[in-house]
Amino acid sequence: MLGFSDASQCPTHHPARVDRMMARTLILGQTLTFADDPFKVPVAEAAMHEPRGGVLVEGGMIAAIGQGDDLLHAHPDATVNDMGSRLLTAGFVDSHAHYPQTAIIASWGKRLVDWLNTYTFPEEARFSDAAYARETAGRYLDLTLMNGTTTVCSYCTIHPESVDAFFVEARKRGLRAVAGKTCMDQNAPEDLQDTVRSSHDDSKRLLERWHGVDRLGYAITPRFSPTSTPEQLEALGALWAEHPECLMQTHLSEQTDEVEWALSLHPDARDYLETYELHGLLGEGALYGHAIHLTERERVRISEAGASVVHCPTSNTFIGSGLLDLTGLAACGVRTALATDTGGGSSFSMLRTMAAAYEVAQLRGAALHPAQLFWLATAGSARAMRLDGKIGRLAPGLEADLIALDLASTPAIAQRANRAEDIWEALFPTIMMGDDRAIAQVWVGGRATR
Ligand code: GUN
Ligand code: ZN
Repeated sequence: MLGFSDASQCPTHHPARVDRMMARTLILGQTLTFADDPFKVPVAEAAMHEPRGGVLVEGGMIAAIGQGDDLLHAHPDATVNDMGSRLLTAGFVDSHAHYPQTAIIASWGKRLVDWLNTYTFPEEARFSDAAYARETAGRYLDLTLMNGTTTVCSYCTIHPESVDAFFVEARKRGLRAVAGKTCMDQNAPEDLQDTVRSSHDDSKRLLERWHGVDRLGYAITPRFSPTSTPEQLEALGALWAEHPECLMQTHLSEQTDEVEWALSLHPDARDYLETYELHGLLGEGALYGHAIHLTERERVRISEAGASVVHCPTSNTFIGSGLLDLTGLAACGVRTALATDTGGGSSFSMLRTMAAAYEVAQLRGAALHPAQLFWLATAGSARAMRLDGKIGRLAPGLEADLIALDLASTPAIAQRANRAEDIWEALFPTIMMGDDRAIAQVWVGGRATR
């Protein structure tokens, strides 16, 4: 049973904000949240489900969670929004995406390097046009919101305009969001290359402009070792050392021929991770997308550093990259997160992404529990992004980014869910077969979006 607690007892509660906005909304429904990591402790200890629960929202924050009737009695002044049997959870957190690839998602027939050259780079070249960047950023954020994703960590393109476009559109929607200018100074078309100096200076200017503005954060973003010289990685490592408050995102060991290519270009490194590590690009707050083909040394170093591996299962199957050993990584103490990798990934939906994570684990002989899938898509990704004190769970003092899930959103799902004997059986059909129709409502900073 979920404990009832008030935000006034919580150290991260902000009384000043509450003074400004006294309106309280009590959202009723089933609630699901996490007290701990279900990869580390039994599901019964990690997850908390309340069949008739409530979330009290005040000033954009979660003020209290608990049993619905208790909250109704304790807060008779609150405006009630009864979502019935819908499941209230934290909004999804997509910890690796490329918003500029929105228009080329689901492009046919290529593996990583060919896919980049054929589809990705020509599309990314269009983002020198600020108007195109704004239009795409807006469309991307609307698509992710429709799918219940309230926070993304996105790559932009090499163009500073693409970063401004993303942050302007995210800010307009009141989103907590992270992004960074993608840096490349080799092995990319001329018009998509920056230089050691310009990548450093543009990234610095952009992070100074955007990091900490409203709910926005910056991620220093070398695309991957094949498209950065050691000098560029060194400059970005130095920038990260000056600004450790920012995240650092990149790609690691996605395909085996890419690993060989990276090592041939960075002969001082013993392995792919070391191409980053040698230049100060390993640490807490580092997000490595994919990281499928790791050596034992790489696993140990990522774990020791408190860095995160971001699992991108729809991308890893779509581009033919491989099957991540997620449970093995989690058992080694590596922080893990979940992401769409739009548009190498074939979906904007974190439900679809959870389904793919389940299927990939099955192919490796492990059955991920629905609680583990859901945790990865919310609290796990938030922790990887060092936002676990702000988003990713239903808890007093956290920001009120919530979704209401319809667990019977299609006839096929409904007839399966009807037989459920507990919340996990009720939720799993939606994880495996659900899409944007399952997202009944999305609240961003306490504000309903539809
Ligand atoms: N490696 C370098 N760039 C990319 C990208 O845009 N998508 C994916 N999936 N892998 C990459
Ligand atoms: Zn990616």
